[in-house]
Amino acid sequence: MKFNIFEALRKDHDRQRALLKTVLDTNGDSSLRESSFQSLKIQLTEHAKFEERNFYKPLIDFDLTQVKSRHSISEHKDIDDLIHALDETSKSSSAWLKKAKELEHKVLHHLEEEEREVFQLAGRVLTENQKIDLAKIYENNIKETKARPNDL
Ligand SMILES: [Fe+2]
Ligand SMILES: [Fe+2]
Repeated sequence: MKFNIFEALRKDHDRQRALLKTVLDTNGDSSLRESSFQSLKIQLTEHAKFEERNFYKPLIDFDLTQVKSRHSISEHKDIDDLIHALDETSKSSSAWLKKAKELEHKVLHHLEEEEREVFQLAGRVLTENQKIDLAKIYENNIKETKARPNDL
């Protein structure tokens, strides 16, 4: 079986889960907090950008998936706002950690909703060829960003 859009997106979701854990495990004004947060920020923003273009955009065309698509895109905006708030807060403050936990909660909820609910519905409206073609485009897009530093 060929690599499909669900597998491609899930791969980056797993990266996000791992990065969230790394960020939340850091303390104070450490360089690891700074660097892991920057990696998480790139991963979240680039993933959301290309997920909207290569997954939600086609899903908006179907009544079955339009409402969920709209909901997910609005959550991308909430996640974006939290990232900006974290950027503007001192990394050594307790407020930063509190906001980072909020981000973790929001992102984990979002990923679970996508994987459990959106993927199921999307599986019913997209053709098998579309699922594979969208994965190829998503992969090509994301590989041109800094979201995949460890990929060869
Ligand atoms: Fe996603
Ligand atoms: Fe998403």
